Amino acid sequence: MNHLIEYRNIVISLSGKLILNVNQLAVPSHRCTLLTGKNGSGKTTLFKIMSGLLKPHSCSIHYQGLDLSWKQAKHFIQKDIIYLHQQPYLFDASVVDNIAYGLYRAGENKTNAHKKVIQALEWADLSHLAHRSAKQLSGGEKQRVALTRARILSPRLLLLDEPTASMDTDAKKQTSLLLQRLKAEGISIIVSSHEAQTIEEIADHHFHLEQGDIIKAPAKSNKITKLNLAKKMQ
Ligand SMILES: Nc1ncnc2c1ncn2[C@@H]1O[C@H](COP(=O)(O)OP(=O)(O)OP(=O)(O)O)[C@@H](O)[C@H]1O
Ligand SMILES: [Mg+2]
Repeated sequence: MNHLIEYRNIVISLSGKLILNVNQLAVPSHRCTLLTGKNGSGKTTLFKIMSGLLKPHSCSIHYQGLDLSWKQAKHFIQKDIIYLHQQPYLFDASVVDNIAYGLYRAGENKTNAHKKVIQALEWADLSHLAHRSAKQLSGGEKQRVALTRARILSPRLLLLDEPTASMDTDAKKQTSLLLQRLKAEGISIIVSSHEAQTIEEIADHHFHLEQGDIIKAPAKSNKITKLNLAKKMQ
């Protein structure tokens, strides 16, 4: 199996308590992986470290043929890996402006950015919301706008933190459809979720966080096999 990026020896303590001690985490390329774990097991903390937002006490990274410290890799991973918060922050502006923002920051000119945003909205079936105020959208709509905003920046890996929490069945279906489209485009995805059933249909792999380490579980199954990833990798 090809791996997009591999993290080794991820260790972090917060307020004097060891939260993560992950031996090895290899992210499958072009696949969707479900990440489960109890409340407080460290899923969000793990995502923040993986995306370069939170500095761990230790972590080495193998990425694009290079062995790097977390600090050395930070620049690359912040560009290629996007972490999406459960309650995405959208500016008090239109949906179009929210999605275009990242493109402007990346140096795209206004005409090109506008074209890309219109295409992205069509891709997400969100064209009808283009000129609505982002602040007035429902939770499910905001989540899909945030997904569209992330996709337009061409990430290699998307880390989605509880994207379907507090969504109704329809919104879950729509989000799940977008995840399938992202996967079909070759973007690697890890989704943390307490509602495994919603994600299981599209997930190829299942990782479970327990006592600070990753345990691999068979895809499309709730049965956790106590098989440490490190052993699996050997
Ligand atoms: N900034 C912080 N300072 C101290 N402790 C923290 C901090 N952030 C998280 N923690 C603790 O680290 C542990 C892991 O938190 P984290 O948010 O990563 O868990 P989670 O698996 O995402 O939980 P949930 O399913 O509730 O979202 C928890 O015990 C939490 O209280
Ligand atoms: Mg969390």
